[in-house]
Amino acid sequence: MDIQGLTAVVTGGASGIGAGVTRVLAKAGAKVAILDRNEALGKAMAEEVGGAAFVCDVANDESVQSALAQARETLGTARILVNCAGIDTARKITSRKTGAHAIGPMKRVIDVNLTGTLICCAHASHAMLDLEPLDEDGERGVLINIASIAAFNAPNGQAVYGASKAGVVGAAVPLARDLARYGIRVMTIAPGLFDTPLAGTMDEALTAKVLRNALFPKRKGRPEELGNLVQHICENQMLNASTIRLDAGFF
Ligand SMILES: NC(=O)c1ccc[n+]([C@@H]2O[C@H](COP(=O)([O-])OP(=O)(O)OC[C@H]3O[C@@H](n4cnc5c(N)ncnc54)[C@H](O)[C@@H]3O)[C@@H](O)[C@H]2O)c1
Repeated sequence: MDIQGLTAVVTGGASGIGAGVTRVLAKAGAKVAILDRNEALGKAMAEEVGGAAFVCDVANDESVQSALAQARETLGTARILVNCAGIDTARKITSRKTGAHAIGPMKRVIDVNLTGTLICCAHASHAMLDLEPLDEDGERGVLINIASIAAFNAPNGQAVYGASKAGVVGAAVPLARDLARYGIRVMTIAPGLFDTPLAGTMDEALTAKVLRNALFPKRKGRPEELGNLVQHICENQMLNASTIRLDAGFF
């Protein structure tokens, strides 16, 4: 897929990893629609890259449908969807000090990280069905979901977050199976620690401990490094139905 001139939707595109993806795709010539709950940051990013921003809560089906419809009217139907919107939680499932994990925050993390990703995949891919294929192979589009290495080996306090991301990883193969007949590929990226506002909420000691576990380089990833992988996935048609770890060899 040649990105030049295509429309891309980036959820969570106002900040961090999503902002990195937005910048890389815009530089490659895409018209980028940012779907984010943060209106001010979304607008600022859209102005920076010459795209458009739409307020959206990815966990809310109506909100997603409305934002995607507005994005379609403004920039055309997206052939690229990158699901970056996500939230973190760090709390043990129970402890004598904190008690059992509250159900409200538990559900919200699953709703945003997992259900939100699936809602966006459903509506964005449905709109792609009406598009003409781009080439003789019949490619119509690509969906790229951002999970986390927490899907495979999350530290304590991350049972809920890890479960939400494991769900995203688990969805890659069946989503790709559902959409193969329409020429739509599905890939997942599982990042290690990246330099974003979300990662900045981790305390310094824990950050240092996490980085010690990376083989090389022992630093946080840069959002544009993840954006570069997104660009490559778009351009390389043989990438489908799998999850790529982008973590500097983290164990
Ligand atoms: N930063 C890391 O180290 C890291 C590592 C692994 C995975 N991830 C994942 O990468 C993704 C991006 O994380 P980040 O570090 O860039 O975080 P971030 O907080 O910098 O950016 C997340 C963006 O998502 C938006 N968002 C949150 N909830 C939303 C909702 N319900 N609807 C619409 N937009 C919403 C926020 O407004 C924000 O702009 C997340 O899914 C996160 O779990 C991050």
